Amino acid sequence: MKGIVFTMFLEMVESRFSPAMAEHIIEDADLPSGGSYTTVGTYDHAEIIQLVVQLSKRTNIPVFDLVKSFGHYLFGQLALMVPKFISDNPTVFDFLQKVDGYIHVEVRKLYPDAELPAFEYETPEPGTLIMTYRSARSFADLAEGLIGGCIEHYGEKIDLLREDLPGGSSARFILTERR
Ligand code: HEM
Repeated sequence: MKGIVFTMFLEMVESRFSPAMAEHIIEDADLPSGGSYTTVGTYDHAEIIQLVVQLSKRTNIPVFDLVKSFGHYLFGQLALMVPKFISDNPTVFDFLQKVDGYIHVEVRKLYPDAELPAFEYETPEPGTLIMTYRSARSFADLAEGLIGGCIEHYGEKIDLLREDLPGGSSARFILTERR
């Protein structure tokens, strides 16, 4: 996993909890990398799970909730980094349908070793978008947080429903515009 995800995670911990909390969880997690991440480096994605597990222990907030709220935060940070992706896509559905075939393709050009998920899209009827997440890394909680962060960023009224698919590494996200 790219270092930028780790640095943003630790930034979130520092601002939502405290700089000391970030130091404590790095110590508790006893990481192969030692916890000093550079944005362009690449690290074992298991390290982010270890950090979240330690944060959960210290805060008593469930891992799922922490990963999801990190997804929200991450979306906001990514949107600041690449405002053009937002301005080129006027709605949530426009934006999300660009993630697989365009946004993550651009990410891969920048970071050839990026580990990215795949999304498939279905639009069974107007006002509904179904996104199927597949990845070897089982970060569907993160995907849910990112999609939630996207809906919040655009300020649209959209209901988000998740169905986990057998095997544990894939999930369907059903987005429905509220009338
Ligand atoms: C709501 C929109 C998005 C969703 C649902 C999404 C989903 C994800 C997920 C779940 C991962 C974790 C890796 C995995 O599951 O295999 C990931 C990785 C990543 N995404 Fe996205 N993404 C979104 C938008 C973006 C945007 C806008 C950017 C950049 C501007 C971006 C850049 C990245 C990067 C850099 C990684 C890390 C790759 C690595 O660690 O090697 N994503 N994305």
